[in-house]
Amino acid sequence: MSPIISVRGVTRVFGTGPAAVAGCRDIDLDVTAGELLVVRGPSGAGKTTLLTLLGTLDRPSLGTIVIDGVDTTAAPEAELVGIRRRLLGFVFQRFGLLPALTAAENVELPLRLAGVGRDERSARVALLLERVGLAEHGLQHPDELSGGQQQRVGIARALAAEPRVLLADEPTGQLDSATASAVMDLVVELVHENGVAGVVTTHDPAFMERADRVAHLHDGRLTPNAPPPVAPPSSSPSEMKESARSAPNTGAVMAAAASRRSCISEPELEPGTEPEPEPEPGRRSASDRGRSARNTQRR
Ligand SMILES: Nc1ncnc2c1ncn2[C@@H]1O[C@H](COP(=O)(O)OP(=O)(O)OP(=O)(O)O)[C@@H](O)[C@H]1O
Ligand SMILES: [Mg+2]
Repeated sequence: MSPIISVRGVTRVFGTGPAAVAGCRDIDLDVTAGELLVVRGPSGAGKTTLLTLLGTLDRPSLGTIVIDGVDTTAAPEAELVGIRRRLLGFVFQRFGLLPALTAAENVELPLRLAGVGRDERSARVALLLERVGLAEHGLQHPDELSGGQQQRVGIARALAAEPRVLLADEPTGQLDSATASAVMDLVVELVHENGVAGVVTTHDPAFMERADRVAHLHDGRLTPNAPPPVAPPSSSPSEMKESARSAPNTGAVMAAAASRRSCISEPELEPGTEPEPEPEPGRRSASDRGRSARNTQRR
């Protein structure tokens, strides 16, 4: 099967001269439909840089990224907007929900922006919320939901537009271990059942065990097909430190996720309504993100 995502020789350098930092270097990567690739790597390894590039929110300094046959590194910004709408769904570590909207309205937003009619929107939102186990929570605002529930709303929103590619940057990083596990189940299930190409970054060994493939990022370089992580139960101090990122079990379940349904393609949120991926201080400036980086193709 030909890959939906095909990355060749991708390098992203931030800054110039002695201050230049390589966010990622010389990445080659293919992801096919129905495949879940988990990218692991320590802080600063380049995970967010890579996902941001795959999501066409930034351009590489070198190399090509082809998504569904389109060379996104050569495409003008206007075409990228269409690609993001039609092909890409994003899930962020900090959920990225709009606080003024209810859960249902957050899920509905991409459909609204895509011009889907009201009745169809309501039907799809109901299905999506049911699929992520939140049929009863559509009227609640994000601050009235638990972290796991918020992340499930984020997943429902990412899927609202039937993306061919699901990109998730540490989607369980803010969740307790049981909720993280339920969110992982959902992502794995959705990738496999909807034939989506999934790329998930994580520190969480539990997510890696459920991946079809694990690639390791270190210092911006990717080692594909890294060996599976050693089973953790009798945790080493470093593993305990990693798992301490997840807190105790709340027993959240995805029971209602049984229904099968198709999804639609995620439209780009309007400027000013698009949730920020990870509002880390000092991260990519608008000018940096928007700049048309040199894009020398290697082949
Ligand atoms: N806008 C930027 N300007 C300069 N350097 C940057 C920028 N964005 C990322 N970097 C650098 O690129 C490298 C990779 O950063 P990135 O955020 O991709 O790492 P990460 O693996 O996502 O880390 P974490 O697990 O902490 O989220 C780091 O050295 C970082 O400082
Ligand atoms: Mg990151």
